[in-house]
Amino acid sequence: MMKSKFSAQVAGLGAYTPATVLTNADFEKMVDTSDEWITSRTGIKRRHVVGDSGEATSDLSTKAAEMALADAGMSAADLDLILVGTVTPDMKTPSSAVIVQRRLGAKRAAAMDLNAACVGYLYGLTTGRAFIESGMYENVLVVGAETLTSITNYQDRGTCVLFGDGAGATVLTRAENTGRGILASHIAADGNHEGLLFVRAGGSREKVTTENMHNGALYINMNGSEIYKFAVRNMQDSAEKVIAEAGIKPEEIDLVIPHQANIRIIDSLQKRLNVPDEKIFVNIAEYGNTSSASIPIAMTEAKQQGRMKSGDLVLLVSFGGGLVWGAVLVRI
Ligand code: ACO
Repeated sequence: MMKSKFSAQVAGLGAYTPATVLTNADFEKMVDTSDEWITSRTGIKRRHVVGDSGEATSDLSTKAAEMALADAGMSAADLDLILVGTVTPDMKTPSSAVIVQRRLGAKRAAAMDLNAACVGYLYGLTTGRAFIESGMYENVLVVGAETLTSITNYQDRGTCVLFGDGAGATVLTRAENTGRGILASHIAADGNHEGLLFVRAGGSREKVTTENMHNGALYINMNGSEIYKFAVRNMQDSAEKVIAEAGIKPEEIDLVIPHQANIRIIDSLQKRLNVPDEKIFVNIAEYGNTSSASIPIAMTEAKQQGRMKSGDLVLLVSFGGGLVWGAVLVRI
């Protein structure tokens, strides 16, 4: 990418997860599974879910965004653009982003949703970066938010134990390019693998019918073991690309924050990238897979725990249904 005189800096972070928690013991009562299977195969112990709270993706997003704005010391009126990465918008239209725009009172901000499955947040950071580096916008709010439980089939033990709800948000702001902010991004897609993860019905291809309301077609259908193989290889590829683009040595990275989908995928990636334990952030046990929300939730927690500090070089890396994948290297 052409060098810009501007850089997109992380000015603020925020996260919100709903209060209700589903534990592995809860799933033992719902489907034929065990705490031992879930823990050893996925690393997941708990997930936060909206349950009966009535919360939708825009509600989760707004709370995370308010925290990120406060962290940045900015008001919603400063925002030029709101991007919400999600596969579970409140409704087909309007976008969750415009609902967030109204709720925040971000009067001058343009707003749109962005669907890149679990990589929605990294696609959002990359899009926000492009608007900022081009000089077009100054402040961009990038949210990753999901209410995955709304598309989860609680009769399918192969998927229902994996997913949780939540939101994370980042305020990107324009600054002179002094080596801080987003240093490199790589986002990619391969639509040949659409059959590995999809929600078949409810869109324009297969409308909702009384039949498909009951046969699981409105829920996530996933070939987990095939995705697994692609995930590790493609995340490694993206990570190596951003490291090369930024011209840094891998050992200069202070923290790796991978998409929290499966502890075994994270462990394999860690080995391939040769990252020591203290440099990888994992919180999958508490939240499960929250798709596009997982990385910004993890960034917020890493900052709160003092594991991600100003000046740190942080590698964000993700994969998801599509297939899509990508990485962003950022100097905090
Ligand atoms: N409890 C007990 N047994 C189970 C469960 C469960 N919850 N789920 C599946 N099993 C069984 C299967 O039926 C199978 O039994 P069988 O051998 O008798 O047929 C056995 O366990 C092994 O199943 P696999 O699917 O091969 O298990 P695997 O080790 O691959 O783990 C998992 C499954 C956890 C889904 C893993 O493949 C994975 O994490 N893949 C990546 C998925 C992912 O990250 N997707 C990300 C995208 S999400 C998004 O974009 C929204």
